[in-house]
Amino acid sequence: MGNEDISKVLIPEAAIRDRISSLASEIEVAYSGDITVVAVLTGSVVFLSDLMRCLPLRMEIGYITVSSYKGESPTEPRLGSISLSELRDRDVLIVDDILDTGNTLRLVQGMLRGHSPRSLQTAVLLRKPSKAPPDVPAEFVGFDIDDMFVVGYGLDFKGRHRNLPHIAELRV
Ligand code: XMP
Repeated sequence: MGNEDISKVLIPEAAIRDRISSLASEIEVAYSGDITVVAVLTGSVVFLSDLMRCLPLRMEIGYITVSSYKGESPTEPRLGSISLSELRDRDVLIVDDILDTGNTLRLVQGMLRGHSPRSLQTAVLLRKPSKAPPDVPAEFVGFDIDDMFVVGYGLDFKGRHRNLPHIAELRV
């Protein structure tokens, strides 16, 4: 009911759960101390909440908001809940839902890099390798997908479908 624009399940809930568990192991071995997680709102909230509970690292969590509308450039990122000065000499991990054109993450990475973290790495649940540009690295990737519009597990279409427990392809 109400999901007539969803065409098919692309990644089932159990597959997401399994992959996040192994992704968390990859992230855990990459760090030796505390980290600062910066989540890119809003699409990353479900991924963040599952990933952080699989990560036995001491962490601070902040978030960043970037408004982007189709066909327009993303706005200047705004950091919330932690201040930029707290990023200096920290190991910072950006968490985002999807690396698509990379325009949003390019802005976010550029902004955070300017505040002298000790290291800056990025985890995304999804990546579209056919579009992701080489100058926007993502060290930790859940799934590579084809170039299709997907929703669910935090990702929306016009504000809807974020609450689906799986990733689905949108009917076009
Ligand atoms: P890019 O990498 O193109 O992505 O700057 C910016 C933001 O756009 C959203 N996005 C999507 N949302 N299905 C969605 O529901 C998609 O296929 C998709 N591609 C991009 C997402 O919030 C991403 O962070």
